[in-house]
Amino acid sequence: MESILVAGGAGYVGSHACKALAAAGYRPVTLDNLVTGHADAVKWGPLVEADIADVETVRRIAREYEITTAMHFAARSLVGESVSKPDLYYENNVVGTLRLVEALSAEGLKHLVFSSTAAVYGAAEGELIAEDTPARPINPYGETKLAIERALGWIGPAKGFSWCALRYFNAAGADPDGEIGERHDPETHLIPNLVRATLGAGPGLKVFGDDYPTPDGSCVRDYVHVVDLVEAHIKALDWLKAGGASRPFNLGTGKGLSVLEVIAAAERALGRRPPYEIVGRRAGDPPRLVADPAAAMAAFGWTPTRSDPDTLVASVAAFEAASAA
Ligand code: UFG
Repeated sequence: MESILVAGGAGYVGSHACKALAAAGYRPVTLDNLVTGHADAVKWGPLVEADIADVETVRRIAREYEITTAMHFAARSLVGESVSKPDLYYENNVVGTLRLVEALSAEGLKHLVFSSTAAVYGAAEGELIAEDTPARPINPYGETKLAIERALGWIGPAKGFSWCALRYFNAAGADPDGEIGERHDPETHLIPNLVRATLGAGPGLKVFGDDYPTPDGSCVRDYVHVVDLVEAHIKALDWLKAGGASRPFNLGTGKGLSVLEVIAAAERALGRRPPYEIVGRRAGDPPRLVADPAAAMAAFGWTPTRSDPDTLVASVAAFEAASAA
């Protein structure tokens, strides 16, 4: 059985990737410092508790498990926090990743799938955002992810590994079996906050702005189910192994949903009226971010199948109920 190093395998997307890797016949070896990850989310392979910047440990586990392929999810990922603590973001996301790549490539890395983000596009305008839209991040989080994408463009060929940077739009949803889900502290994301508010397990939802230049005035995003996302990672891995070119790919559905449309989906899926109030805009929120996912669809035949809002909301509600039980 081939082992795949999963940096950040105790986190939200990383833990779902471990489950998908195990189902695809791989052994996911999680490397996580557990600063934001959860040890109990690592269920499908070993957990090595260490930082991605710990070159000695990374080299040791790469040798022990004969790692030639890695997925890298380990990052600080809150936009607001990145503005107040940019040094932390550069340290973890840039310096940490360079150390990880140095250690893995010293032990024979061949393929790397890197978690990137739509935040690289900043406040890009236009109906759909394709990969050739100029990358102009508007916060340190997006800057640090773009810095690594660009570094990989040079380091990959120099060290002899191929890579994909997967630019997630809005990752959402939870494992349909309720085994793992999104557990950020504090939780800033729309869908978990909406579901908790609707189920009475959290405060009423604050909708950040209804005066955007969008059809109903609330922000439009492209929500993609975490299980669809991790499926794309497995396909990206196959693509790299088959000799596919190193490059970024958008992961989104191509369909935008406004905050008010997601609230309406919660009412349908949960049969209760979500309590919410409209408040002022949140700093740094672009009005609309919707992916053109054609490149990933064409290159590795990826089609999101679980990313409609009712399925997203229902999966989060099921996970919340399972965690509360
Ligand atoms: N929103 C609310 N109320 C909330 C939370 C969110 O109205 O309590 C709104 C936001 O204003 C935004 C939308 O819901 O319009 C989605 O917000 P999220 O916080 O769920 O997600 P973001 O779009 O802010 O962030 C996501 C990823 C980031 C990534 C960013 C790219 O989580 O990692 O997209 O722009 F950087």
